[in-house]
Amino acid sequence: MAFYERDVDTMIDTDTLQARIRELGVEITKDYQGKDLTLVGIMKGSVFFLTDLAKAIDLPLTFELMGVSSYHGGTETTGEVRITHDLTKPLHGKHVLVVEDIIDTGLTMKFLLENLGARHPASVKVCTLLEKPSRAKVKVAIDYKGFVIEDRFVVGYGLDWGEKYRNLPFIGVMKAD
Ligand code: IMP
Ligand code: MG
Repeated sequence: MAFYERDVDTMIDTDTLQARIRELGVEITKDYQGKDLTLVGIMKGSVFFLTDLAKAIDLPLTFELMGVSSYHGGTETTGEVRITHDLTKPLHGKHVLVVEDIIDTGLTMKFLLENLGARHPASVKVCTLLEKPSRAKVKVAIDYKGFVIEDRFVVGYGLDWGEKYRNLPFIGVMKAD
């Protein structure tokens, strides 16, 4: 029995996940023809998605990582976001695609869009693997999304519960949730 089976149920299995990521890759490949594309992955949650998505895009892209942590007031983000790891290259003139694991309240993405937009990129768009629209507090335009999910706490494929379960190859839901 795998280590997680007692605690986690499958929500989106590996094949479904990978098939959808290939579709997103095809779409992004079409949209960014001839453009200087930089993927900006948000650590740590988006790292698994970022690497699979990058492989599904047939373009000479570059990628960067940015680390952010949100201050939590109780169980929710307060919207105050701190940069824990900044980009190593300027974004001036680049077509930036922000790659996130999940958009929940939207507060983290709102901060990121303001922060990245101030670096004078040619464009900024958003790609998220998951969206929980029932929890949105601010409206953020999502250009590419993998799956819309109900309001459950999910883990796996980068998403964590107390830093654990990121290494599951599928999206799961905590049985206790
Ligand atoms: P937002 O600012 O509320 O949109 O928060 C987004 C961040 O909260 C994500 O990047 C995740 O790190 C975290 N998060 C939100 N929902 C979940 C979940 O169901 N499981 C794991 N992490 C989550
Ligand atoms: Mg995150």
